[in-house]
Amino acid sequence: MRAFDYAAEVISEDEIRSRVSELGNAISADYEGRNPVFVSVLTGSVLFSADLLRQVQVPGEIDFLALNRFGESGRISLSMDTSGPLFDRDVIIVEEIVDTGLTLNVLRQMMIDRGASSVATVGLLDKTRRRVTDVPIEYRGFEVGDEFLVGYGLDWEGLYRNLPSLWAILDIEAFVEDRLTLARDLF
Ligand code: IMP
Ligand code: MG
Repeated sequence: MRAFDYAAEVISEDEIRSRVSELGNAISADYEGRNPVFVSVLTGSVLFSADLLRQVQVPGEIDFLALNRFGESGRISLSMDTSGPLFDRDVIIVEEIVDTGLTLNVLRQMMIDRGASSVATVGLLDKTRRRVTDVPIEYRGFEVGDEFLVGYGLDWEGLYRNLPSLWAILDIEAFVEDRLTLARDLF
């Protein structure tokens, strides 16, 4: 795994690929004969959703929503809604990372309120130690520590979502000083 003073690769492309495939297989087995709708939470989960959906062997649909988050208060509102109704549907929420769990809690309740016939979550990364509210993650990729991560959809100030593997930021000052520091070393 590659490492610099200020950032280190923590999950490789290969590890992501094989875990995503396992998650896809588990979902395919559980949803056999059904037609779930995957609700991808923009923007971070786009890369994960695209890879996961290709590993799912039931006729899944995909829809998107986007959220506004207000600081640490946990207040969340929709900035973009799904394009189709979720009433009577088997909903699978796709999150790239669950941190405090506040976002996921609000989303799950929203799906239930809309009359989804079932709600499950697939989360690629789980920052278990930072959880402030208890929320189930039926399909979980990796448990991670509390470092700030970038890559594979996760950003720092909008950057680094397009890295194909996951990196932990070890020295945030280095990024603040030079936003492109990691890009310069990698690209
Ligand atoms: P929470 O579970 O409500 O605290 O929020 C989860 C959201 O916070 C994720 O969907 C990400 O957008 C963001 N987030 C949490 N941890 C990280 C990280 O390490 N890197 C990038 N974004 C993160
Ligand atoms: Mg997100």
